[in-house]
Amino acid sequence: MFVITGASGQLGRLVIEQLLEKVPAAQIIAAVRSPEKAADLAARGVQVRQADYSQPATLDAAFAGAEKILLISSSEVGQRVGQHQAVMAAAKRAGAGLLAYTSVLHADTSLLGLAEEHRQTEIALAACGVPAVILRNGWYHENYTAAIPGALAHGAHFGCAGEGRISSAARTDYAAAAVAVLTANDDQAGKVYELAGDSAYTLSEFAAQVTRQSGKHVVYSDLPEADFKAALLQAGLPEFLAQLLANSDAAAAKGALFDQGQQLSKLIGRSTTLLAASIAQALAT
Ligand SMILES: NC(=O)c1ccc[n+]([C@@H]2O[C@H](COP(=O)([O-])OP(=O)(O)OC[C@H]3O[C@@H](n4cnc5c(N)ncnc54)[C@H](OP(=O)(O)O)[C@@H]3O)[C@@H](O)[C@H]2O)c1
Repeated sequence: MFVITGASGQLGRLVIEQLLEKVPAAQIIAAVRSPEKAADLAARGVQVRQADYSQPATLDAAFAGAEKILLISSSEVGQRVGQHQAVMAAAKRAGAGLLAYTSVLHADTSLLGLAEEHRQTEIALAACGVPAVILRNGWYHENYTAAIPGALAHGAHFGCAGEGRISSAARTDYAAAAVAVLTANDDQAGKVYELAGDSAYTLSEFAAQVTRQSGKHVVYSDLPEADFKAALLQAGLPEFLAQLLANSDAAAAKGALFDQGQQLSKLIGRSTTLLAASIAQALAT
């Protein structure tokens, strides 16, 4: 039995779709906070079970019979270490044979502010008593392609990443990596994968690609970190998110999102999705 947490989220759904191509639906448990969000999966034969990282009792019921569990990191920044530890404890009680965790690229040394919770989670994982494998996911292309409508409206994509090179990949690539690890025949316990796109770009290059494909002129406007955060606040983002995004861009300027190891394409057996392809997809929707 494979358990996927966060299965109602964007990454979780892609993992389930790709896992369905490899194993029968009856062997997949979609562990979700709100089962009604996964009614479509239940209709396809996937077992949908309620699992809230903040309610350990739900985790015991959700993990019953689990052999391999994918813990998709929580989106509740600030609460994540305790939530992830609750998942580890439940995985241990369930007798799971493998716990895979979606961390962040170069978590042990990363300058990203959000890496701290991943670092602490990785330390807890090593001590939790369940064989664990770490998927250190780099940035999603979608973090930037989601901003395309705003960039087209303003003729500019704003940020504070300077000339930092970003080795992002599409969410679907990271989902494929998770499925590869969960279904691998060889022992994955103890492995740490640094997962990133095959090629890297600057945000100026991103803006140039948006210009080429959309036919509308978009420049990259590089701001001081504080000004970028202020712009995000003015656009209506909550304080913590504006802080997190500005901090991440500033870390990207120092290379925090860059990686040349190509472990992601090796793991999934194909090249990672080109940024240009994700931009085309975003423009088409
Ligand atoms: N690598 C990157 O660029 C990047 C970017 C953004 C986020 N991330 C991280 O990667 C994770 C997956 O990304 P994503 O795009 O799939 O994010 P997402 O679409 O926001 O999905 C997050 C998932 O976490 C679930 N969740 C949140 N709090 C929970 C709780 N207390 N108990 C159980 N489930 C809970 C959500 O459940 P609901 O559906 O009920 O809300 C949702 O299914 C994120 O959670 C975040 O940690 C990575």
